[in-house]
Amino acid sequence: MHSAGGSGSPFNAAPILVGRAREQVFLREELVTATGGRGRLVLIGGEAGIGKTTLARDLEREASGRGVQVLTGHCYDLTNTPPYGPWLDLVAGGRPSGGPAPPAAFAGGRLSGTITNQAALFAEVHDFFAGVAAAGPTLVVLEDLHWADPASIELLRYLAARVGSLPLLVVATYRIDELTRRHPFYQQLPALIREADALRLDLRRLATSDLQALIAGQWSLAAAVLISPRGTCSVSRPTCGGSWCNPETAATRPPARSTTA
Ligand SMILES: Nc1ncnc2c1ncn2[C@@H]1O[C@H](COP(=O)(O)OP(=O)(O)OP(=O)(O)O)[C@@H](O)[C@H]1O
Ligand SMILES: [Mg+2]
Repeated sequence: MHSAGGSGSPFNAAPILVGRAREQVFLREELVTATGGRGRLVLIGGEAGIGKTTLARDLEREASGRGVQVLTGHCYDLTNTPPYGPWLDLVAGGRPSGGPAPPAAFAGGRLSGTITNQAALFAEVHDFFAGVAAAGPTLVVLEDLHWADPASIELLRYLAARVGSLPLLVVATYRIDELTRRHPFYQQLPALIREADALRLDLRRLATSDLQALIAGQWSLAAAVLISPRGTCSVSRPTCGGSWCNPETAATRPPARSTTA
């Protein structure tokens, strides 16, 4: 019988953030500063499964609790990434409360027609976000930029250089281990940091004590029960950040039925 969770699942319902206290402080400081009218770009990098999204979600919860509007856009692992993919995804998520309508080219979260004047579009997108932020402080989260198309990164670069005078915090996540020299994000990264004075947070693997806390918090089982005899990704010998619980690390999956008393 499970001692927690209540539904027969070994997972506890609400994932908690363990470790990352330093990053959490940085992000929350940036949120407060942005709320006061001085926005910034924050780049959260790290290997797959290290906990980038978990950290971003934590900030989103904090932002929502402070009455900050949260807008998110994702990139997807497609063979051909559509132009402006994460920005269109953000617009497709629904019209922000307050502020102007999204640029006509992005209406409904679909790219309408061919962009003939990129400079005009960028200015329009900037005005859109400036309008949204003027209606209330806003957090924009762009996920998985290692999959982003070149135009999306250029637009991010344009906007990031201008958020310093807006109540707009932009947080972008990306997998460091997937970036090659050919990636548009890799190529634009130095300029992004230089021009926008972006804050870069590179996530390292969680400490063993944090992994133990994560297991204790997220699972109904005692940590010792989960340690694989093969030790591929065990508490005592972690090989990944939070990704011990990713499906591919099957050696650390919980047994089908818990035996916790
Ligand atoms: N600090 C943490 N606290 C609690 N859970 C965590 C933490 N870091 C990672 N996890 C857990 O590990 C798993 C993977 O984390 P997450 O999705 O945030 O990784 P990611 O870096 O965004 O991965 P990807 O590159 O695939 O997007 C999730 O189930 C998450 O709950
Ligand atoms: Mg993620």
